[in-house]
Amino acid sequence: MKNQIHLFFSIACFSFLFQSCNSGPNLKIDTNNYQKKVDSLIKIMTFDEKIGQLNLLASGWDVTGPVMDPNYKQLIKQGKVGAIFNAYKVDYVADLQRLAVEETRLGIPLLFGYDVIHGYRTIFPIPLAQSCTWDLAMIEHSDRIAASEATAEGINWAFAPMVDISRDPRWGRVSEGAGEDTWLGSKIAAARVRGFQGESIYDERTLLACMKHFAAYGAPQAGRDYHTVDISERSLLEYYLPPFKACVDAGVASVMTSFNEISGVPSSSNHWLYTDLLRDSWGFKGFVVTDYTSIYELIPHGVAEDSAHAGELALNAGIQLDMQSSIYLKNLKNLVATGKVNETLIDKAVSDILTAKYKLGLFDDPYRYCNKTRQENEIMTQESKDFARQMVTKSCVLLKNDNQTLPIPESVKKIALIGPLGDADVDMLGNWSATGLAQNCVTLLDGLKSEGINKNIQVHFVKGCNVNDDSTYGFNDAIKAAKNADYVILALGEHRNMSGEAASRTNLDLPGVQLHLAEKIIELGKPTAVILFNGRPLTIPELNKKAPAILEAWFGGVESGNGIADLLFGKAVPSGKLTMTFPLNVGQIPIHYNMKNNGRPVDPTNPEYQFRSKYLDSPNEPLFPFGYGLSYTTFEYSDLKLSASEITNTDTLLIQARITNTGNFDGEEIVQLYVHDLVGSVTRPVKELKGFSKVFLTKGESKTVTIKLTTNDLRFYTLDMLYAYEPGKFEVYIGPNSSTGLKDSFLVK
Ligand code: GLC
Repeated sequence: MKNQIHLFFSIACFSFLFQSCNSGPNLKIDTNNYQKKVDSLIKIMTFDEKIGQLNLLASGWDVTGPVMDPNYKQLIKQGKVGAIFNAYKVDYVADLQRLAVEETRLGIPLLFGYDVIHGYRTIFPIPLAQSCTWDLAMIEHSDRIAASEATAEGINWAFAPMVDISRDPRWGRVSEGAGEDTWLGSKIAAARVRGFQGESIYDERTLLACMKHFAAYGAPQAGRDYHTVDISERSLLEYYLPPFKACVDAGVASVMTSFNEISGVPSSSNHWLYTDLLRDSWGFKGFVVTDYTSIYELIPHGVAEDSAHAGELALNAGIQLDMQSSIYLKNLKNLVATGKVNETLIDKAVSDILTAKYKLGLFDDPYRYCNKTRQENEIMTQESKDFARQMVTKSCVLLKNDNQTLPIPESVKKIALIGPLGDADVDMLGNWSATGLAQNCVTLLDGLKSEGINKNIQVHFVKGCNVNDDSTYGFNDAIKAAKNADYVILALGEHRNMSGEAASRTNLDLPGVQLHLAEKIIELGKPTAVILFNGRPLTIPELNKKAPAILEAWFGGVESGNGIADLLFGKAVPSGKLTMTFPLNVGQIPIHYNMKNNGRPVDPTNPEYQFRSKYLDSPNEPLFPFGYGLSYTTFEYSDLKLSASEITNTDTLLIQARITNTGNFDGEEIVQLYVHDLVGSVTRPVKELKGFSKVFLTKGESKTVTIKLTTNDLRFYTLDMLYAYEPGKFEVYIGPNSSTGLKDSFLVK
């Protein structure tokens, strides 16, 4: 009986407060309307019900952190949970939602969050790979597909995009980001928010995005995950914050804290970051969620004495939704009673979270993301797989191709595929694979075989060795297979779990005995192409010396094998360009293209001179620079022209160059524009990416590429920490990567 009254009251209360003012497909949210509704709901909520909205718990379907609370269902029924993550599938989500909507006094629906980082079931290339396409529309579309598939199984909140800039490939989470460059990373960050959120998050095929990890998580000392970040305010503002600002400007609905401190202050207690900057300066309107137990982690960080103190610091900093530590649930009542936190902050947090639920339409229909028809018909469609295959071909980067080793000649009839990644299915999913399934992955062996059938080519696979141990058990079989083949493909690299979270490495060489195997195979003298599968730049100078051809394939998702085979057989032509520098060795790290010049740069005319900024045991230059990538064809740059020799803040400078396809394949070139501010009130990078243009050219074709520049593009944090441009001389470069190109200069008056 009690339950029925309870249920009646909830429905009555619920329907009074939340008549669907937006019934039907009206995608415009009535701002005045929902604020009134949210405010009136907060007025009738008990204190405990408010705190319940600030509690985010994991269901047991995925484990993405150190602790779990098995009582999440009971806590939902008690009104002590506002959101659940790592729960998906229509039936399961509906069951959990029913506990909240029908078994609590007010029936406030839950959010359902999940790490949809590079696809949901149709898994796309890892984000670092996607960034190498330099194709903003493609990246946006991949997240639109991911949002559509995730919302077909109950998810309405993606813990993405991850927009952490990083210059340190020892840090495994570079796999989740867009590389080392702030300007490109900011463009990609905004594209991802648009992909996930679409025109309106009321649309049942879009969801809340969550920019993470705010902030500077990608700059840990020693490349060790979760470790100390100690950088200047100038570096923070100049290099690490802009992609987050781009997300806010794109309307991102939520923000996730980072585990790290920034110069002594952990993000989850950083009032300057979350209130002064994010809210007051940037005008962010969404809600803030912590990363996994990161409020609790203020204790080991050494800024909180106990859980209560941690909760006090976090809430007062502006942190709103507590992921998995339950510190708010257990401590806020006492913290308010003792005057350590103000209830207005709790009301603000509850309001921001309820607003997101309203915008999603959950108060119109809490089960609107539990649509079995969509679940059955809209996931892993042929269309999404075809798109994934195309994304693989665009995200691969051709690092070397001596003597036109690639594409595989038509004459080849017997291919030996050798190496531990040749038939690796699960590794193709990368390290945040959501509901991706290994059995859905097309391995390189699968891709070669299915293409081989069309061309009457035999493919013989020998693993040869494991990824990461010292056994040479398979070497002899591999050598034998190579001797019997016309062409050899070596599939080498990392396991997917050797990058990603909690996967830092101090040694970035090919793991195990893979290089040794490669050397044994290459010395046979057969035409040989190496395909690299990895989640971060690796140090491969020896392999690069010996391998005739190297294709960086990253972890390409469910269509890896097909996309790579399209490239290997010339059905597609590589166009990807690196968005992260490949060091020559770990000793060079951090190494990135936009470094400062320092006071004693190496003099290229006298490189051996002692008193210069260089190493005794290594060149300064990386193995492959930012922006680098080859094609099967070649491109010639000529006729660099500037529309003016000087500009003011009212002018637009047009920078033009002629690009000619001088090779034997049609192909696409990513033309890059860099500037160098020669003299500033503070030191300036030797180069800064400020534009690019993707141009497709048939064999022999020429096109003129025009990239625009204004003084707005030249702004930086000056000596007085003003974000402004400064008059003076600038060099401008147009070229195929960050280390070469046509050069000119102009004056800013
Ligand atoms: C993890 C990750 C974060 C992820 C969260 C939930 O620790 O740091 O990126 O979104 O927990 O799985």
